[in-house]
Amino acid sequence: MNILVVNGPNLGAIGRRQPGIYGSKGFDELPGVLTRILGDREKQIRWRIYQSNHEGELVDRLEQAVDEGVNGLVLNAGALTHTSLVLADCLAWIGIPCVEVHLSNVWARQEPIRQTSLIAKHCIGSVSGFGLTGYGLAFLALMEHMSSQSG
Ligand code: DQA
Repeated sequence: MNILVVNGPNLGAIGRRQPGIYGSKGFDELPGVLTRILGDREKQIRWRIYQSNHEGELVDRLEQAVDEGVNGLVLNAGALTHTSLVLADCLAWIGIPCVEVHLSNVWARQEPIRQTSLIAKHCIGSVSGFGLTGYGLAFLALMEHMSSQSG
């Protein structure tokens, strides 16, 4: 499997940004989290990570993923989750199975807009509230999804 992790605006600052909400781990700790959660299954995948603060660059990267043969997306679009018809339109056509991830539990957050996702309907599912662990859970979900599709 070829999985691309895509992080949107302000997610480059995780570890420093509001640790009470988003946790104190940075994405440099993601490889260790994935190894712990995936165990031997990690050998079945190749994965890369991309982050941008810019909506159009995220679309460019997702389009590039199609050409690269990426067959699973783990997407934390940050605040663009709640506002971006642009990203929703992109996910609607690229046809790559995508899991929506949020570090925080968006359902328990104060601002009602955080309970809205324009991208959710284009994803196979979502994970919210487990910090970096949620990315590992998204990998597992994608792997199960792929094996159920091929079996
Ligand atoms: C987030 C939740 C969003 O509401 C917020 O705008 C983010 C991060 C999360 O990972 O919890 O930037 O996607």
